[in-house]
Formats: sequence, structure tokens, C-alpha cells
Amino acid sequence: MQNDLVSYYAARAAEYEKLYEKPERQKDLIRLTAILQDIFRGQNMLEIACGTGWWTQRLALTAQSVLATDINESMLDIARNKYYARNNITFIRDDIFQSALDQTVEGLFGGFIWSHIPLDQLDGFLTQIRNRVQTGGAIVFIDNLYVPGSSTPVSHSDEGGNTYQTRHLSDGSEHRVLKNFPAPDFLAEKLTTPGNDFEYRALDYYWLAIVKAGAVGPSKPSKPFLNPLNLF
Ligand SMILES: C[S@@+](CC[C@H](N)C(=O)[O-])C[C@H]1O[C@@H](n2cnc3c(N)ncnc32)[C@H](O)[C@@H]1O
Repeated sequence: MQNDLVSYYAARAAEYEKLYEKPERQKDLIRLTAILQDIFRGQNMLEIACGTGWWTQRLALTAQSVLATDINESMLDIARNKYYARNNITFIRDDIFQSALDQTVEGLFGGFIWSHIPLDQLDGFLTQIRNRVQTGGAIVFIDNLYVPGSSTPVSHSDEGGNTYQTRHLSDGSEHRVLKNFPAPDFLAEKLTTPGNDFEYRALDYYWLAIVKAGAVGPSKPSKPFLNPLNLF
């Protein structure tokens, strides 16, 4: 059994989007798309851990510009090869735990990455994230609710309170994958800071956490990420 998250996703890239085809989840995905397109409308935004660009493609329809990052080139290759009607996306390889970016942004989105962050690394990760978003900007995370009968069962847990699933890829490989299912109170505790507004919404299969960076956060003006190096 393999337990490295980054190599698991590197190997999963070509089959990753099957998870967006589940019929029972379509209603939620349409709702989430509308909510996110509304929140980030007109913004120069950063998407962390963008994967194959499933959300990037949708966000780019209303955002001013999207800087989309992921650690895995196999994911970024698929994302780069999609059609983006407004040519307003830049893709860069970046590690969320050791980011080389120095831009600040008006909005930041992380889809299905919260659940993969070890609990003892959450505070450091969130500090980095907050420093990247300008005053008044939004930070939004979405992730899976645990839905019995639909979610892959939790197969392990560790002394730090993290939970893990045993997953299989189409090549037959088996992976132990960190997958945490935070309670709303825990999200509120981690994401609420003085001067910020926190909002939690639960759909049928997904949760959404929205933080409006009020008094905290840097306030440098943002520049659009308009594909300076033709990085598609
Ligand atoms: C569950 S997928 C989510 C992909 C995309 N956000 C989505 O919602 O479809 C998790 C993604 O996180 C990326 N990832 C894992 N560890 C990372 C890290 N340390 N820094 C940046 N990306 C990472 C993986 O390559 C993968 O694309």
C-alpha cells in the first residue's frame, strides 16, 4: 500500500474527473459552481491545488483572472489543455506548504484540498493563505461531507486525529489517502479570526466555507495574472 498523497494524485490525474460524473452529485455541483462564480466575479484570484482544472474552467468564466497552481505536472498538463474562452488563466506548479508565490490576490479558492492537509499542518497552511489575500477578499474552501453509502469508508486513523481511506486506481495500485471530514465547529474555529466573517454551508454531498478577509490581510493592489509568459 502506498501512502504518499502527491504521487497518488500524480498517478490519478487521467482518471480524476470520473468523480465529477456521479449522477447524484450533479445538483450540488451546479449549485457550487453558481456560488463560486458569484463570489469571485471580477476578481484577480488564486486557485490552489487546482488539479485538472475542473473548477478553474468554471471560475475563469466570471473571474477577471485566475492564477491556478498545483504540485503535480500531470494534473497541470490536463488543466492547461482545456479550452478557456477568456484566455485569463495562468498555470504554475507550486506547493501549498512551501509556496514560491509572492503575489497577493483578491480571492483565493481551494477545492478538495482541506481534507488532505494533516491536522498539525493546518495552522501554518492557513497563516500562509491569509497573508496572500488582500483586505476585503474572500477565501473559500469546498470539500466532501462524509455521506454513508456514497463516500469511501474511513479505513484508518492516526494519533493526531487524521483519518484515511484505502483507495484503488485503475492500474490496480492501492493507496492510503489522508481524508479528513471536518465538523462545522472545527472549520469555524480554524477560519474565524478577528475582523473576518465566516460562513459555512452544507449541501447534500459537499461543504463550503467562506471567509471574508476583513481587518486582517495585506492590502497591496493586485495585478491581473494575464498569462505573462504564455504559460498554457
Ligand atoms: C482532491 S484533488 C483536488 C483538485 C481540484 N482542486 C478539484 O477540486 O478538482 C487534490 C489536488 O491537490 C494537489 N496537491 C496535493 N498536495 C499538494 C501540495 N502540497 N501543493 C499543491 N498541490 C497539492 C494534487 O496534485 C491534486 O491535484
